Amino acid sequence: MEHGVSFSRFVWKIILESTVKLKGLFVFFLGCFLLSTMPAMAKEAQFVGAKTCKKCHKKKKVGEQYKIWKGTKHAKAYELLGSKKALAKAKEMGIKQHPQKAIECLICHTAGAGEPKSRFAKKFKKEDGVQCENCHGAGGNYKKKKIMKKLHKEKAAGGNKLATKYGFDSGSENTCTSQCHQEQRTVNGVTYTNPSYKDFVYKERMKEIVHRNPHK
Ligand code: HEC
Ligand code: HEC
Ligand code: HEC
Repeated sequence: MEHGVSFSRFVWKIILESTVKLKGLFVFFLGCFLLSTMPAMAKEAQFVGAKTCKKCHKKKKVGEQYKIWKGTKHAKAYELLGSKKALAKAKEMGIKQHPQKAIECLICHTAGAGEPKSRFAKKFKKEDGVQCENCHGAGGNYKKKKIMKKLHKEKAAGGNKLATKYGFDSGSENTCTSQCHQEQRTVNGVTYTNPSYKDFVYKERMKEIVHRNPHK
């Protein structure tokens, strides 16, 4: 009798343990299945850096956007945070870190500040300051020529469905004023102050950075 009871307990134990394992296995495979069916776009786009855009946006005949941008203050926005003026401003605001390390400053002086490492491609350089992707959105999902062309077509037709899907912004007044050209900016619930705010008139300020395609 004694033996019979402990044997059946033993069997029960094995059955229980293996179902727990099987359940774990089942959940694992279900997870894999769900992940594999998730649309590719659900992945947040990576910041690929201005050099990636340069590949197709450097020639004169398309409007040499890369060269023009390189010559603007935007390309020097990170460097600027190393200036005496920047250091003095940060000190005044009670920020202990160097401005080139402080999120309070980087948030408007580089692209993607505060995002996890996984969102940056190898080519991305924070030293490039305010770059293409600050304004046009992280390029990881839209940088392919085929997609760019589709986005261009959609823009010309007045739509924005694909642009939303790929995280692409073709650029407008809202691009500037909803991000850096405002007195305060809130990102993920944290409010940052712009210590150098100047009234922003889009039409006027756009003249400083205009980079249009001459053939359109
Ligand atoms: C493989 C080539 C290629 C790369 C890389 C590329 N583009 Fe483009 N892009 C194009 C083409 C082609 C067009 C459509 C025609 C044109 O404007 O020259 C275009 C158009 C655009 C437009 C205008 C779309 C509209 O609304 O008409 C913007 C803005 C733009 N690209 C930004 C970027 C940014 C930012 C990057 C880097 C993250 C980038 N592109 C990388 C090829 C590329
Ligand atoms: C909300 C966005 C934002 C934040 C946050 C921000 N900046 Fe700026 N900063 C700007 C913009 C936009 C300009 C350009 C001003 C203009 O021309 O309208 C600028 C310009 C500057 C300038 C040059 C203008 C001047 O007065 O000489 C310095 C220096 C500067 N920022 C330092 C800092 C420092 C230091 C921090 C962090 C403590 C910081 N910024 C945080 C948006 C911001
Ligand atoms: C500070 C914001 C900003 C930066 C940085 C920026 N752009 Fe733009 N871009 C805009 C805005 C706004 C527009 C639309 C308004 C316009 O063209 O007059 C635009 C338009 C464009 C267009 C369409 C031009 C046309 O003729 O329709 C292309 C292509 C483009 N950008 C590519 C780039 C590339 C490539 C870079 C980086 C090398 C870049 N942009 C950097 C804000 C920016």
